[in-house]
Amino acid sequence: MMAAAGPERARILVTRKMMPDAERRIAASFRASLNPDDRPMSPAEILARAAEHDGILLTSFDKLGPDFIPALPPSIRIIATHSVGYDHLSIPQAREKGIAVTNTPGVLTDATADIALLLILGAARGASWGDRMVRENRWGDTTLVSPLGHDVSGRRLGILGMGRIGQAVAKRARAFGMALHYHSRRPVAAGDEHGARYHARFEDMLPHCDFLSINCASTPETRGIVNAASIALLPDGAIVVNTARGDIVDDDALIGALASGKLAAAGLDVFRGEPRIDPRYRALDNVFLLPHIGSATPGTRSAMAHKCIDNLEQFFRGERPADLLT
Ligand code: DGY
Repeated sequence: MMAAAGPERARILVTRKMMPDAERRIAASFRASLNPDDRPMSPAEILARAAEHDGILLTSFDKLGPDFIPALPPSIRIIATHSVGYDHLSIPQAREKGIAVTNTPGVLTDATADIALLLILGAARGASWGDRMVRENRWGDTTLVSPLGHDVSGRRLGILGMGRIGQAVAKRARAFGMALHYHSRRPVAAGDEHGARYHARFEDMLPHCDFLSINCASTPETRGIVNAASIALLPDGAIVVNTARGDIVDDDALIGALASGKLAAAGLDVFRGEPRIDPRYRALDNVFLLPHIGSATPGTRSAMAHKCIDNLEQFFRGERPADLLT
């Protein structure tokens, strides 16, 4: 699978504009086709252009669909995705076609965990409605008893998915004196728990969660796992935050629970079908909404792009890429 053509000969299609330092590097290392105007490309356009390239650097914002990898021309030997999540690509299909796939783990852990804490605080303390009150000149409506948010410090947080990002969320939540619980497929090493108590079954963790932070990958096992049945097991007035993937949540169930008051609030950075989100979220006052910005800082986006380029260089030097998924 590894290719030793040499990076300088390899032709790389880059689907989106990247940080300038990364664009300079990829242009110097490869025969790179950049997208300086950042014009989103359809899957059909990416496929049409793929035939003149040996590799593709793409993102989780590219809406590819299940037919994408089977339709790739034989020239494509590697896909480097500018994301840690790779649910937009089928790894078995890529493996079957002999296409290497790499991602960008590690470098966006802190930035994404920071956004999870922003969502916890923003959803609980009403950052969204508070901001609107100030902008709409309604500050004068505040009284001693209204509007009020919800305490964060000292409350219980359940983390769904205790990978790198889940652990970084746990580390931060400890500073708020939160009592921590987690569920993942298996317990993490003792030092990585950050005081969190393991629950082998997701259902068993839910009654302990004043806050539920979704930090797992989107897989066939986790898609729709936050649904009417699991939300019913949360304490009344719980708060749900999601920095992972929108399809882990059943939108009907979450919106229903937010509207009925079963859930006090939600903080969401990711959505099923984003950027075209379920419009009912916009009408709810108890949701704090962000446009998938977990990794959106210059340093993080630059580190992600450089990781993609590292992986491409390793591959075209005939080495095993550090972040190979296939
Ligand atoms: C990731 O890297 O998976 C982020 O969610 C951005 O797509």
